[in-house]
Amino acid sequence: MTSPYPGLELLATAVLMLDDRLQVTYANPAAETLLAHGRKHLLGAAIARVMPGNEAFVERLARAVAEDSGFNENELSLELGGQTLTLHCIAAPVAEAGDSRLLLELRELNQQLRIAREAKLAEQQQANRELIRNLAHEIKNPLGGIRGAAQLLERELPDPDLREFTQVIVKETDRLQSLMNRMLTPHRLPQIEMLGVHEVMERVRTLLLAEYPQGLAIRRDYDVSLPDMPGDKESLIQAILNVARNAAQAMAGRGEITFRTRVARQVTVARTRYRLAIAVEIEDNGPGVPQDLAGKIFFPLVSGREGGSGLGLSLAQSYVHQHHGLIEFESAPGRTRFTILLPVRSPEQAGLARH
Ligand SMILES: Nc1ncnc2c1ncn2[C@@H]1O[C@H](COP(=O)(O)OP(=O)(O)OP(=O)(O)O)[C@@H](O)[C@H]1O
Ligand SMILES: [Mg+2]
Repeated sequence: MTSPYPGLELLATAVLMLDDRLQVTYANPAAETLLAHGRKHLLGAAIARVMPGNEAFVERLARAVAEDSGFNENELSLELGGQTLTLHCIAAPVAEAGDSRLLLELRELNQQLRIAREAKLAEQQQANRELIRNLAHEIKNPLGGIRGAAQLLERELPDPDLREFTQVIVKETDRLQSLMNRMLTPHRLPQIEMLGVHEVMERVRTLLLAEYPQGLAIRRDYDVSLPDMPGDKESLIQAILNVARNAAQAMAGRGEITFRTRVARQVTVARTRYRLAIAVEIEDNGPGVPQDLAGKIFFPLVSGREGGSGLGLSLAQSYVHQHHGLIEFESAPGRTRFTILLPVRSPEQAGLARH
């Protein structure tokens, strides 16, 4: 069915239109999600029936209709789907083809806060990445010179035993060089194609099982109905591998990792709403992310692992952002789950021509 108000379909705010008997005549997808009812159930239903337990609110709506007036409330508590939600609510009377209607807008407050916080965090991370990138460049440039000079020096050394020292210089500059190269990688031009996310996950699974041939089990729980999505295969493999490898390392190679995929509907990432997204979950039964690191593991150079460079998750996050997605985690001893949310954009949105 085509929508009478196409412009409202992609909004993150739930929008409902009620007639003068408080029956729903329109509900956008965000309203379907908020009220946990499909449009079929909502259309024609009395508002009191689709949000039971909110008698006072329904009465206010009835008053608004009777008096042909509206109201605006910043912190409205409603019982929805078994929880109490705090919402920002606007009710406004509108006339439509001679009939009077009540337009109802509902937006979850914590959602508003979350979007603002996410946007700020993304900005900060972008600034961090720029800083690190510039720093890496500056460090990388003189390394070649240092290495070359050490080699020249080595040839001139009168005592071969002294070579041990020039060797240290050469080896350490090589180590720094490869660290800097890793920091600079995310700026390769992405090659976007339509791909199946399971193919990506199977590659990661094979790679990781080759690294940990014993003691590691990787269980798959895939939703096989997932659509293809536009993406850069190599960077998605790298992103998921970095997350999954952390899980294996946290369990010292012994334990179980679950690869899960699910469809997510009506998600908002960085202020943009998508109808459909793919949720990729990597879950392990290891000790969990150390508490003192929980707020900063996505920052570069933050590591809780002996010998870790702290780049894995920061790179994974860059790759996921390139795909307009987001990555988050929840962790407790015995169960840690990283979720990568990848919006399914159309080939046109992703700049791909359809063949
Ligand atoms: N599944 C997990 N379980 C427990 N801790 C984790 C998990 N994933 C990440 N961590 C913690 O987050 C830290 C940061 O991870 P990140 O991948 O960014 O760096 P790293 O693994 O230390 O180094 P690198 O990936 O560059 O080799 C890890 O050192 C670890 O302490
Ligand atoms: Mg890592």
